Amino acid sequence: MLKQAKGNIVILTGAGISKESGLSTFRDPDGIWAEVNIDEVATPEGFSHNPAKVHEFYNARRERLLSGNVLPNSAHFALARLEAQWNASVLVITQNVDNLHEKAGTRNILHMHGELTKARCTTCGIVLIWRKALSRNDICGSCTSTGSLRPHVVWFGENPLNMHKIQTALKDAAVFVSIGTSGHVYPAASFISQLKSQKEVMTVELNLEPSANAPLFEYSTYGEATKIVPAFVHGLLESQ
Ligand code: APR
Repeated sequence: MLKQAKGNIVILTGAGISKESGLSTFRDPDGIWAEVNIDEVATPEGFSHNPAKVHEFYNARRERLLSGNVLPNSAHFALARLEAQWNASVLVITQNVDNLHEKAGTRNILHMHGELTKARCTTCGIVLIWRKALSRNDICGSCTSTGSLRPHVVWFGENPLNMHKIQTALKDAAVFVSIGTSGHVYPAASFISQLKSQKEVMTVELNLEPSANAPLFEYSTYGEATKIVPAFVHGLLESQ
């Protein structure tokens, strides 16, 4: 398979790539959505109804991410190596709001669902780096309004970020790799069918188990990301 791989690589990642770094996924039996009510903490309605509860949910995840105990794993590092050594472009499109791809050295990255380490002002729209707890008492550093800051995370019912750049990248992709995502959330889950109908492109799924979209992928390998992703990247780099 890997012998034919050449050209631009687009990689879609989900929570599964960060699981072995100690971050929970969403839909596994021990996942985040088994612990909290999505409507209460991951929708605009939930935020307007009880902002303190939503801030508490993201503050706990941000604190854990920045605690020093959550580090990139060998799958994140393998993708950074691929970007550095591949003879065409490598773009990571991540659904994750953690910063582990960047900490592993990935530079060419688009976050579809926002980032835990950023806050956005609902008054002036500015996006700020935010690495501490966020609350209604915080003041926007740009427009100085109080209580207008929210997590810069995309909630259900909101538009994902960077979609124009993502569509452009998908059009130029020669290889599409989906890693650690269950394929349940759109529009990320639609990329594979878009690519299948669009043009000749090598499609690969690397996941712990077959995702909802598994039948659409040309190639697949199942197992833990820290094992199958470095092996896959090694094979790609050896083949060029
Ligand atoms: N290695 C590889 N894959 C793994 C591992 C692992 N160690 N552990 C779990 N997985 C796989 C699971 O089998 C599952 O298919 O990762 C996937 C995680 O799926 P979800 O929990 O649904 O996470 P994700 O697909 O990223 O969710 C997409 O949904 O709730 C929203 O905004 C949230 O970005 C998230 C989006």
